[in-house]
Amino acid sequence: MKIALVGGTGNIGTGFAVRWAANHEIIIGSRKADKAEERAKAVLQILDQEGTAWGTDNDSAIAASDVAVLCVPYDRLTSVTGDLKESYDNQVVISPIVPMNYNGKFFQYCPPAEGSAAQRVKTMLPEGIKIVSAFHTISAAALQAKDWELKADTLMCSDYPEALELVFDLTREIKSLRPIKIGPLAASSLVESLTPMLLNAARKNKIKDAGICIVSERRDA
Ligand SMILES: NC(=O)c1ccc[n+]([C@@H]2O[C@H](COP(=O)([O-])OP(=O)(O)OC[C@H]3O[C@@H](n4cnc5c(N)ncnc54)[C@H](OP(=O)(O)O)[C@@H]3O)[C@@H](O)[C@H]2O)c1
Repeated sequence: MKIALVGGTGNIGTGFAVRWAANHEIIIGSRKADKAEERAKAVLQILDQEGTAWGTDNDSAIAASDVAVLCVPYDRLTSVTGDLKESYDNQVVISPIVPMNYNGKFFQYCPPAEGSAAQRVKTMLPEGIKIVSAFHTISAAALQAKDWELKADTLMCSDYPEALELVFDLTREIKSLRPIKIGPLAASSLVESLTPMLLNAARKNKIKDAGICIVSERRDA
């Protein structure tokens, strides 16, 4: 598959590139094509040149892709969705975006009027684009460490079963990461809001590389 990492020069974009470049064509997007090209070279270096990654501007990356992952901070969302609306055609769009802030005491979830970042994405992209909300609680550092087994779950929401299945498959390519269905896109706030909760847990209890895993209470399960 051709996977565009929109704003993929940053933390989580680099992590996805490291995990998926062996099996897919990774197109790193940026506001500056040369920055994206540099990042693609750096990713291939991490992978000892075993993989496919190249860089370009965000709109060309989206236009060339089957799957586009929105790897920008929430407050930059419009610049890679509404502003580049024309570049989207029939992609599956993955949103790992979490709208949150730190109020001086704890991290808190700050959803937009639409209910969640993923629902806001939906309002800014052409009709029919299949959005999957996923990967919010997966740390970029863990993704970038190419040999790490993640031992975590990633909780996902979508209105499109086939798109969700595709993202399940991409998730399973990341060592030990387990995809978990939560519900339709309207349930995305439940999943996005776990990130500030996790950051608070990590910070206040000194847990390194905290993640989330759903367990069964039954000992024989
Ligand atoms: N970091 C994590 O561990 C993590 C985990 C789960 C989910 N997430 C989510 O993933 C998203 C990206 O997080 P991140 O930590 O990877 O972000 P980041 O490294 O701070 O930024 C990612 C990229 O955003 C682009 N960007 C910055 N300002 C922009 C603007 N005005 N217009 C367009 N693009 C702009 C930059 O790319 P260029 O300068 O190359 O254009 C930058 O490299 C966030 O929404 C976050 O909630 C992050």
